[in-house]
Amino acid sequence: MGQNPYRYGGPRGNDGRPAWWTGVVYQIYPRSFADSTGNGIGDLEGIRQKLPYLSEVLGVDAIWLSPFYPSPQKDFGYDVADYVNVASEYGTLEDFDRLVKDFHAAGIRVIVDYVPNHSSDQHPWFIESASSRDNDKRDWYVWADPKSDGSEPNNWLSVFGGRAWEWHEPTGQYYLHTFLKEQPDLNWRNPDVEAAMFDVLRFWMDRGVDGFRIDVAHYLVKDPEMRDNPLADPNAPSDHYKPMGEFGTLDHLYSKAHEDIHPLYRRLRAVTDEYEDRYTIGEAHIFDWEEWATYFGANLDEMHQPFNFALLNRASDPASVRAVVAAQERVLPDGAWPNYVIGNHDEPRLAKRYGVDSIRRLAVLLLTVRGTATMYYGDELGMLEGSSDLDLDPWGQNLEGVSRDGCRTPMQWTAEGGFSSSPKTWLPMGPDLENRNVEAQLADPGSVLNLYRRLLAVRRSSEALSVGDQRDLPSGNDDVLMYERVTADERVIVCVNFGRDSVAVAVSGDVLVSTDFRDGRADGSWTIEPHGAVVVRT
Ligand code: GLC
Repeated sequence: MGQNPYRYGGPRGNDGRPAWWTGVVYQIYPRSFADSTGNGIGDLEGIRQKLPYLSEVLGVDAIWLSPFYPSPQKDFGYDVADYVNVASEYGTLEDFDRLVKDFHAAGIRVIVDYVPNHSSDQHPWFIESASSRDNDKRDWYVWADPKSDGSEPNNWLSVFGGRAWEWHEPTGQYYLHTFLKEQPDLNWRNPDVEAAMFDVLRFWMDRGVDGFRIDVAHYLVKDPEMRDNPLADPNAPSDHYKPMGEFGTLDHLYSKAHEDIHPLYRRLRAVTDEYEDRYTIGEAHIFDWEEWATYFGANLDEMHQPFNFALLNRASDPASVRAVVAAQERVLPDGAWPNYVIGNHDEPRLAKRYGVDSIRRLAVLLLTVRGTATMYYGDELGMLEGSSDLDLDPWGQNLEGVSRDGCRTPMQWTAEGGFSSSPKTWLPMGPDLENRNVEAQLADPGSVLNLYRRLLAVRRSSEALSVGDQRDLPSGNDDVLMYERVTADERVIVCVNFGRDSVAVAVSGDVLVSTDFRDGRADGSWTIEPHGAVVVRT
């Protein structure tokens, strides 16, 4: 595979800033990236073999691996049966060590998923906990007596549908499961749970892991009195919130994010700070910006970043994007750094959310706004939403229309697939394999993949794009988003056309990136293709 011709050669001069500030993180869903054994399921060795692609062809700074731990796979690995091992279908701990060693040698950091809210019901901790009421580990999970009529202890609902409580006949109590009944919630109010789960962090950091993506980070601590959740206010601003079936009927005030969560994250941060230069980013679907920002910690002593998910659903027009950028910048504590993400393993592919035309402009947006960028595997090819006919996603099975299978189809390496030697892959390959694959797009100078490569290289070599301040600029056109990124020595202007027509923008300078790959200079005016974008150094 050819080297990214635009790749910046030397180490990045970060001026003492943490690497994750300027870095681009590439999310890998291990089941779907590369299958080295021919069983139709991706694995760690497959990922390791793709290092040249990630390092030289793309040039990302870090990978984040979704769970690869032993698991009954009820929620495709987010039901962990052993936090300190590798599922045999994905390889061994030795494979993991080899992966880390090779990625580190190439200057790429490795972030792993940490799933602290719940384990699998097959985790030995839960098996013990369920074995009797007086077992030592009984209190490691959240058990509660029924109400006098035998019903659930309160009205809490599961994100995946139905009640959040499962009756356990042998011991005559209910246990809490915020997700599937096969994913019982750990009791983080028990110091033994905290100690054991903090040791999990140390285990992976000892193996060289550079950071953690914390699954449903804001769910860990619940109301100690376990009060009923109030009904959702139908008039509440619903900018970002997608009411999902029955779950949308309640305001989940008491079943997550109790204020005790902040001291917990301070203690967790102290653990990752025992090691040098580690990074934590929490999955916190919180759409009140002030509350969201509290997860940085009052003294920047909690997680390094709570994920900012706003562009997953609010990148459809310039006004909405401006509002998101402004909101994040407004609440960001001093010394904290913003972040953006436009796709992940829980959301439909970009083309399904925003239309296939949006793919290029969103690439430019993600990689030029001020902040850490997390990209999702396959988005660099413009991979399309796959079929959900198999209906493997448990959420999709419970709720009409939400299947996550479509965004988890195997990575498209060649026109034949190139993901596995087996014709039967765990999910079928996605649509338009012929054009949306690495090999074809490398050969096409105007491809989405080459746009990503160029953007990654330009971002890496530009101080302004890496760390510069961002200011909104008036574009004079409702369809055009325009902003500048500036440092003392450099000014870069980004213009993104959300419209269906080509549009001339007033800008001068060297064209660093144009979605249609026209190079050269803009002298006072530059015409952007429909749905395109241009990045200019003035
Ligand atoms: C997070 C994960 C999702 C998983 C859920 C339960 O939202 O991103 O994939 O199903 O947590 O662990």
